[in-house]
Amino acid sequence: MNWNKWIRQTHRWVSVVFVAIVTALFAALGLGHEPAEWLYLMPLLPLAFLLVTGVYMFVLPYTAGWRNERRLAGTEVGPTGHDDATGMRARVDAAPITPTPSCFASHLSP
Ligand code: HEM
Repeated sequence: MNWNKWIRQTHRWVSVVFVAIVTALFAALGLGHEPAEWLYLMPLLPLAFLLVTGVYMFVLPYTAGWRNERRLAGTEVGPTGHDDATGMRARVDAAPITPTPSCFASHLSP
């Protein structure tokens, strides 16, 4: 799998884990429990991961230009439809359009 896409998907799923931990902590407090002090530190682990991967994703579009020549060559779209440089979903109109015989046939019909 493409590295940038892996980072983006991991960021997405770790964010779900982060929200689940914070929700569980607030739920416990709301139910009148007093969680152990170390449990308040639990969200910091996924948050640190989100910070690193988030900053990585933030700088990707700025570094993509000088990491390779794609800015000059145009956006390259991988087989999954994601831009290889950023892992983001590529614009639909970035894909080349190849006319098929049926395209021409539709113009020839009366
Ligand atoms: C801690 C610092 C964080 C930074 C610097 C950061 C940065 C980013 C960046 C740059 C993106 C890509 C935006 C784009 O161009 O599409 C992103 C996506 C995202 N972030 Fe964060 N983020 C952080 C924390 C979080 C947290 C705390 C959550 C949720 C609890 C979160 C959830 C998401 C989600 C769901 C996406 C969309 C991922 C996808 O499906 O493409 N992030 N973040």
